[in-house]
Amino acid sequence: MQDLYGNKITTHSEKTVDAVNRFSESLIGFGVDFGVIFEASDGDPDCAIANSLAGLLGLFLETPDRLEIADKYFVRAKNTMSKASEREQIFVSALLASRDQDVATSLKCHRELAEKYPRDLLSAKIGQTQYFNLGDDDGMLWLADRVIDAHRDTAYAHGMRAFGLEQMSQLGEAEEEARRATHMRKCDPWAHHAAAHVMITEGRHDEGISWMNNLSDQWDGCNSFMYTHNWWHLALFHLELEEFSQALDLYDTHIWGRDKTYSQDQINAISMLWRLEIAGVDVGDRWENVADFVAARTFVNDQPFLDMQYVFALARAGREEALNRLMASMEMMRRESPLFTRTAWAEVAIPAAKAFVAYAKGDFKLCLALLAPARAQLQSIGGSHAQRDLFEQVWIQSLLKEKDFGTALPLIQARLDFRKPVKLDMSLMHMAKSASLLA
Ligand SMILES: [Fe+2]
Repeated sequence: MQDLYGNKITTHSEKTVDAVNRFSESLIGFGVDFGVIFEASDGDPDCAIANSLAGLLGLFLETPDRLEIADKYFVRAKNTMSKASEREQIFVSALLASRDQDVATSLKCHRELAEKYPRDLLSAKIGQTQYFNLGDDDGMLWLADRVIDAHRDTAYAHGMRAFGLEQMSQLGEAEEEARRATHMRKCDPWAHHAAAHVMITEGRHDEGISWMNNLSDQWDGCNSFMYTHNWWHLALFHLELEEFSQALDLYDTHIWGRDKTYSQDQINAISMLWRLEIAGVDVGDRWENVADFVAARTFVNDQPFLDMQYVFALARAGREEALNRLMASMEMMRRESPLFTRTAWAEVAIPAAKAFVAYAKGDFKLCLALLAPARAQLQSIGGSHAQRDLFEQVWIQSLLKEKDFGTALPLIQARLDFRKPVKLDMSLMHMAKSASLLA
């Protein structure tokens, strides 16, 4: 039988194919129809694709039994290998490697699939996410470029390519692809998101606000990451225009509250509150609620980019015990994380996390000392340029607090030169220049 993208699946069950299709659409289109894959796999234990996807869904869970659930399906998927086609075997190998945190092997498989079986859009999407988490923009675009010719009529493929292009700073083509995808399928939230990245990178904030506002009615059916992240982008435009009450209002109505237990919801909330405070906004007692949910996390150390921000939320809200626990688990990653990501933990995430604790406690001198060596390698922790810009803002703020205007002023000027100047950066420059004259 065939899935919705024309890939052969070894099964006789229409129910299995339907579940694979619904899972694939949900993953590529940021929907919510994932759970169906568990039941379909239980009813079709010989289907390699369905069972490996059920294993992947187990990995997505952030509960203590995630590996147990994943392994139930991965063991089955492994047992189907002898009956599976070549594509299915490579696909299962990619996901099994991912389960074992062998990212290099997993990506090798996704690249092989993109070259040999470009109709496998789901594989390219999963591979792109892995590249994103490694800060490998080139890899993200490479995968999209390999599969695009097989999916010219699929909006999602253009949206996937748009974000790869944007992160590779090919902004004009990125926007074209994002608009093409949105024209083909209005509900392609990843394409809306890619265009928002282009617009904020170019300083086109008013345009970004109307683009995202006009499409925001399409996000209600999205999973909580995409829903809160697209609203986060809209709030970011307002924040950088110094329209702080709108940004706070979006925080309260859309960014924080969808699924407070989920990692990505927490990261969007932390990142917005932190930026608002850097801009001088009083966020009231909002840290308390975020810290409650971050402190209650049982699943950490998944990605350095996430832990670094959990650390700040806990430090900012004075949750010493939870903070110490998290820092200790990060220290463990210095020794035990897979070799592929160990440097990112040891040389970037851990020193940066310590720097953020110092920042939260008002010790800006220590923050600068700890962040300095990590700063040049921040890309390796993953996330987008727009997300990591927060850490550059922390650096500049710390320089200003320490009255190191000679270092801070050129960095602020570089921000103004990089894009059409935005209000927040202009105010920062004005404030920094005034402070330097008084010093
Ligand atoms: Fe984004």
